[in-house]
Amino acid sequence: MFTINENYLKLPGSYLFSTIAKKVNAYQSGNPEAEILRLGIGDVTQPLAPAIIEALHKAVDEMADQETFRGYAPDLGYEFLRTAIANHDYRNRGCDIAADEIFVSDGAKCDSGNIQEIFGLNNKIAVCDPVYPVYVDTNVMAGRTGNYNPETGSFDGMIYMPCMEENNFVPEFPKETPDIIYLCFPNNPTGATITREQLQEWVDYANRVGAVIIYDAAYEAYITEEDIPHSIYECKDARNCAIELHSFSKNAGFTGVRLGYTVVPKDLKCGDVKLHDLWARRHGTKYNGAPYIVQRAGEAVYSETGKAQLKAQVDYYMRNASVIYEGLKNAGYSVSGGINAPYVWLKTPDHMSSWDFFDKLLHEANVVGTPGSGFGAHGEGYFRLSAFGTYENTVKAVERIAKM
Ligand code: MLT
Repeated sequence: MFTINENYLKLPGSYLFSTIAKKVNAYQSGNPEAEILRLGIGDVTQPLAPAIIEALHKAVDEMADQETFRGYAPDLGYEFLRTAIANHDYRNRGCDIAADEIFVSDGAKCDSGNIQEIFGLNNKIAVCDPVYPVYVDTNVMAGRTGNYNPETGSFDGMIYMPCMEENNFVPEFPKETPDIIYLCFPNNPTGATITREQLQEWVDYANRVGAVIIYDAAYEAYITEEDIPHSIYECKDARNCAIELHSFSKNAGFTGVRLGYTVVPKDLKCGDVKLHDLWARRHGTKYNGAPYIVQRAGEAVYSETGKAQLKAQVDYYMRNASVIYEGLKNAGYSVSGGINAPYVWLKTPDHMSSWDFFDKLLHEANVVGTPGSGFGAHGEGYFRLSAFGTYENTVKAVERIAKM
């Protein structure tokens, strides 16, 4: 008789964004005339930039020709894309990362969920609270935590690092020493940022205690201020302790196209074992590479035309972020984020719970957002609005919320 991975049973409910989608669909079925405005999941709405479309068309034509047709992609990614990434995202920023330390994948969500596989089950995991749920859920599935405690809204055995107004939503070193630390900046969900100096302190800490930092840089394209690091490798000695995750979803609108990459420096070791070798082994065994046409589209992200078009796209979303931030602030809400990130984090009014505010917003304004408590216990009493909608819908949504 077979058995199941009982760790899955520890997970309460469904994945956050699936739960939200179910609630919204149920509301829409009961209210077919309602015009629902979606500022919940961070999904892009602008079409792919012309430079990317051109690259996709060209690559599709290559696939139609015997001479240029491609089969399986190299499992770690095509050289042309890995080199473009190494040059544009790292070398041009003074970061010492080589093309063969970059692993191309079909997106940062998969990588952020899969990366834990190369670590032992006895590692202590530290996460920010609130946090992108994938880091927690995948470690629960693997069996690195105890049970979910409904009283505290957290899993036993997991180290939670509260990110609150008092610490500008940047975590402090935990009391208990972790082995693996997940950090995401600019942050999802709070939209907060970390300074280069603060991140250097985390790198020094990780090197001191022998921990690995898994740094999710999915939102780096949204940084507008100086002194905010775009990559953890801007910090000294980060090559010895950090893995970095990147997405093409948010900077280039690839949420439906799917492309991402993970950097594992060769200096990152456990004893004599390079984590680079383990991740290469895992990738080679379980993955056949992102499609050629998508990797060509990824390469176009780094062309001069592509860069200019994507800067305009990021500016478009950041105008939405400012509409949300200013509009809600003027309406009396306490807001943060939205300056270096496409998410605005607001306090629910009158100490309302995050889910009660979600229902109120859906029913009274027909606006969807994401309840802060869905990201962790310290997200309770908060709410996230995404700037990835269209400008028109964003303006309308903010007007409706302000009138409530
Ligand atoms: C979010 O809304 O938090 C993101 O879209 C989720 C993701 O990128 O997977």
